[in-house]
Amino acid sequence: MTSSSTTLRQGLADQLAGRGQLADPAWRSAVEAVPRELFLGDVVFRSDGARWEPVRRDQLGGEEWLRMVYSDTTWVTQVDGISAADAPGPLPGKPTSSSTLPSLVLRMAELAGIREGDKVLEIGTGTGYSTAILCHRLGDKAVYSVEYDGALAATAAQHLRDAGCSPNLVVGDGLRGHPGGAEYDAVIATCAVRTIPASWLWQLRDGGSIVTTVSGWMLASGLIRLVLDEEGTARGRFTGDTVSYMLARPHERPPRATFYPHPGTTRRTRVSPDLLDGWTAHFVAQLAAPSAELVHTGNGVALIDVATGSQAWTEPDGHGWTVHQDGPLPLWDHVEDALAVWREAGSPDQTAFGMTVTEWDQTVWLGDPDGPHWRLPT
Ligand SMILES: C[S@@+](CC[C@H](N)C(=O)[O-])C[C@H]1O[C@@H](n2cnc3c(N)ncnc32)[C@H](O)[C@@H]1O
Repeated sequence: MTSSSTTLRQGLADQLAGRGQLADPAWRSAVEAVPRELFLGDVVFRSDGARWEPVRRDQLGGEEWLRMVYSDTTWVTQVDGISAADAPGPLPGKPTSSSTLPSLVLRMAELAGIREGDKVLEIGTGTGYSTAILCHRLGDKAVYSVEYDGALAATAAQHLRDAGCSPNLVVGDGLRGHPGGAEYDAVIATCAVRTIPASWLWQLRDGGSIVTTVSGWMLASGLIRLVLDEEGTARGRFTGDTVSYMLARPHERPPRATFYPHPGTTRRTRVSPDLLDGWTAHFVAQLAAPSAELVHTGNGVALIDVATGSQAWTEPDGHGWTVHQDGPLPLWDHVEDALAVWREAGSPDQTAFGMTVTEWDQTVWLGDPDGPHWRLPT
């Protein structure tokens, strides 16, 4: 039996509904209406664990390709600036664009609380699939979408035309928002940020929402919905969803020199570095050392601070772990202190954390806004 695009879209909608999504029939109808195959082109990347392998529509055959398109999966379309269609073969590197898995596209739209008549600013057009979902729900005129990469933006514009959508498309840095369309009822970012850009606050109406993942140079992530009050302060709690996006390009971590471990000062650790494998502990570590990268060394972990060159690395010592710290920032002390605060609070999941954002200051807090808090880099 062959499966048509229409039946596969219905199947995808059933799958999302089965998970408690699409309660609003307007979102269900968007999932059923938008043909995702138009946004993926003829080639996408699939990871073989080490490299990104281009997978072609003609290699799979029409029906298998369509099944792949309608799986609830993120399909990477660009790696280190090379599109899947241009890749000569498998590539190493990191994804720089993708079509986000449909459940997450809908999760963010639903979280934003978008209603009929709202105007939305999307950051990260990518393939245009999520933009088309918004257009179906709100109408073309109410949707603004910004893409940083000019070539991707041009391809997305064509995809959207093919799907019969004509939103307001902008090529540029979405961290500046798009003043031309303000004020918006919601900002939805399909790339992650280290801090909330002030422009998003300025371009949002009072009571409007920002839905984004907050990430950083350790690549820990948290999904949050912030609501703007009349004083210009945005507040919200993390949802606890274990999802992540690629960092907004201007927020990407700079390249660092090869890591050479220095002996530095040594002591026994109070916690095992294995703790950092947990979603929330990883996030806490990133809050404590926001300009540090986290590297798994095979023998423990290393924290390498891109701003100061400080480093901390752990090694097993027979009974537990020893940490070596070198440079102006005692990275492991900072991380361990933050982890201690979190553990004293009962090691709660990410829903115990929230954020307060003003034009000048951004903090992530634990428990409530007056509880322990960490300042995000500005
Ligand atoms: C995960 S993809 C977007 C997925 C898209 N929503 C979809 O469904 O196809 C993230 C996109 O954000 C874009 N991006 C990264 N930094 C950006 C920025 N500062 N402004 C606008 N777009 C940005 C990337 O080029 C990439 O295309």
